[in-house]
This record gives sequence, C-alpha cells and structure tokens, in this order.
Amino acid sequence: MACKDVFEKTRSDSRVADLCTLQQLGAYPFCKECTPDQSLPPAEVRMHGQSVVTFGSNDYLALTRDPRVIEACMQASRRCGSGCSGSRLMNGTTELHLRLEEALADFLGRESALLYGTGFQANLGVMSALGGPRDLIAADEYCHASLVEGIRLSYARRARFRHNDLSSLAEVLEGCDPGIGRLVVIEGVYSMGGDLADIPGTAEVCRRYGARLFVDDAHGIGVLGPGGRGAVEHASAGAAVDLIGGTFSKAFASAGGFIAGERAVIDYLRHFSAPFVFSAAMPPASLAAASAALHIIRTEPERRKRTAELSAFCRECLARHGFDTNDCPTPLIALSIGDPRDERKAAAETGLFCNTLCQAGFYVNAVFGNAAAFPILRISIMASHDQDQIEALADAMARTAERLRVGPARQGA
Ligand SMILES: Cc1ncc(COP(=O)(O)O)c(C=O)c1O
Repeated sequence: MACKDVFEKTRSDSRVADLCTLQQLGAYPFCKECTPDQSLPPAEVRMHGQSVVTFGSNDYLALTRDPRVIEACMQASRRCGSGCSGSRLMNGTTELHLRLEEALADFLGRESALLYGTGFQANLGVMSALGGPRDLIAADEYCHASLVEGIRLSYARRARFRHNDLSSLAEVLEGCDPGIGRLVVIEGVYSMGGDLADIPGTAEVCRRYGARLFVDDAHGIGVLGPGGRGAVEHASAGAAVDLIGGTFSKAFASAGGFIAGERAVIDYLRHFSAPFVFSAAMPPASLAAASAALHIIRTEPERRKRTAELSAFCRECLARHGFDTNDCPTPLIALSIGDPRDERKAAAETGLFCNTLCQAGFYVNAVFGNAAAFPILRISIMASHDQDQIEALADAMARTAERLRVGPARQGA
C-alpha cells in the first residue's frame, strides 16, 4: 500500500501555488538580497548590485553602522571569542550577560531581567512557561507570531480579543473561574500596523479582572518615551505593567531578546522556560553591541527625537500625495494600496509595487500572508534618513501608484 508522503504538501499546498503566481507576475517581494555596506551613504544598501535607499529596516536609531557599536562587537569577540558554545545554565553565562541583564532591569525599572537568544525565543519561553493547564492567556488578535506560537505551546486556555478593544478583552475575562490564572498579552507598538496599544486602558481591565499584563515592546523600547523606555513609559503606565519583553534586533542594533519583571518570575523563567534552558547563550559580539546601544539610548535622546520628526515628516509627505497613513508617533508607517475587495489581488499589487519601487531605488517591505491581516506596505524610518530621501520616496511612491493604478490612483477609489 502506498503511504501518504509527508512532503506532498510542499507541492500541493495552495499557498505554494499562490507564491508561484506571484513569481510569474514579477510580484514576489520576499528574501531579496539586501546587503548593508559601510562604503555606501547612510540608509543605503546594496540590492542585486544596485544601491537602494532602504525604508525596510528596524534599525530605528541607525546604530547598526555606529562605529562605537561596531568597535564594542569587535573588542568583545577578541576578548571572549565568537560564541558561548553552551546554555546559560551550563557554561554559557558570562560577565557580559550578567552586566547586560542588570543594566536592562535598571533601565526598565524592574527587579530583574533575563536574556534569550532572540525576541522570538523570549516570547516562546515566557508564554509556554507561564501558561499552565489552570490558566488563561488572552492575546490581542494582532499579536506577533512569536506570542501566538508561545501560547500554542503552553498548556493554558487561549483566547484572542479584538485589536485594541477593551470591551472585547473584558468579555474574554468576564466569567472566568476565579481558580484560573489570567495573563493578558499585548504589544506596545504593533509590529505591522505601527499603532500603539492602549496600555493604561488594558491595565485597568486587567486590574478589574485580576489578570497580569505582559507588554511585548519590541518596536517601542529605545524609540518611544522621554527616556527611551518604550511605549510603557510613553503612556506613563510602568506601575500597571507586570512584564515587559523586548528584542535587540531593532533599536538595539544587535540580535537577542529579553524579558524584565519581578525577581521571582524571572528566576522561574531562568529554570523552567525551555528556550532559555535548552538553547545556547547570546554570543559576546551581540551582547556588546546591545550594551553599547543601551548606553547610547540612555545618553543620546536626540536620536529618537530625530526618528520621531522624520516619521512625522514622512507621514506628511505621503498624505500630500493622497496616501492614507496611520497617524501615530511611531517610526512604522503602514499603508494599504491593494484592492480592498480582493485579498489575493491586493497581495499581488502590493508585491508588484514593492518590486517596481525597488527598481526606482527605494525599498519598503511588502507584508502579506500570515504576517498581516491584509496586505500592506510597511515603511520604517531610521535616524539616518534625511528629508530629501523621504521626499524622494514619497514622489517615487506616487509615480508607482499612478503607473500601477493602485492606492490613491486606483480607478474609482
Ligand atoms: C512584536 C515583536 N515581538 C518579537 C519579535 C521577535 O524578535 P526577534 O527578531 O528578536 O526574534 C518581533 C520581530 O519581528 C516583533 O515584531
């Protein structure tokens, strides 16, 4: 008897056919070669031999090319080697890990902090370790895949509430058995929409229903708040938030993730969250880069001010050309230019827009599939952009929209 082939889906899955169609249409926008090169002007990268201004990086403070951050990486590698070759519980805890954990806890005003290999691992670890069989985890419907996967791995009951909708959250929590532990999960800045969570409102609902609140602030820390402490500081809501998570892969110009909160919780995660226990420790170069970036975040507020001013300027320029942008104080600008009545067509239009814009010398992210509720273009502003680059991007986007008859140039729109 012929057995079912587990690989069969890789040929027959309708999503694979959709990707092939995109490729045939010249609208496949993913995994482009995108090589940073120190010899290029700020904010430019090399793409297939061509120099392109990138608006697709999460390097919000433009620290990946900062000489101090690069020097810190090199010195740490020379001193401690290229990797830790072991889990934190075994041989993988260095002085660099301990110092960065202390500095982060101090920065975020928490008792303790814990580093993970990536932000994705941190979320997997926290959700799966804290969500037991007598618990409920309620997450905003737009939460990042790492949170969704972590909740799936946990033994907790799962619930999603409508995006930023406090009454939907209250409905989920209401009537929950008092014997069930409750954890509410939101993002400080939503990674695709670029909008802010209502942290004080969410915290108030949590307080009413005895739930703990976790804020993943991957896109807020370093960028928002007078001290760069993120969306929680921006909302003056520190005392109402139980756990803050983040990543070093964005404003911190490195790689790695972390969680900060009360000591007992962090100690529990240190011993019982699988991605911490069973994965190798962050390497010296990444730790040193994150530490150097943290120092710059603390001491150079003008960087986040510049990113905020440029973000507002970009929104203005795009609005002048008729693009409908999200109106928030974040460097993430999400735009929907595809056909609102047909998601497949919108994905193809968004992909083609991205590729056409690239040929004109500008890269923005095209996001669709399971990463966004509806196909979007996602523009990320960095402190190293300048106003001329942003005006040129908006002009090129308007020309592209006109040529492809999408977005503000859609017939009958
Ligand atoms: C909200 C959010 N959380 C977590 C992550 C994962 O971070 P990392 O890149 O460090 O794995 C991301 C990354 O895109 C994110 O946007």
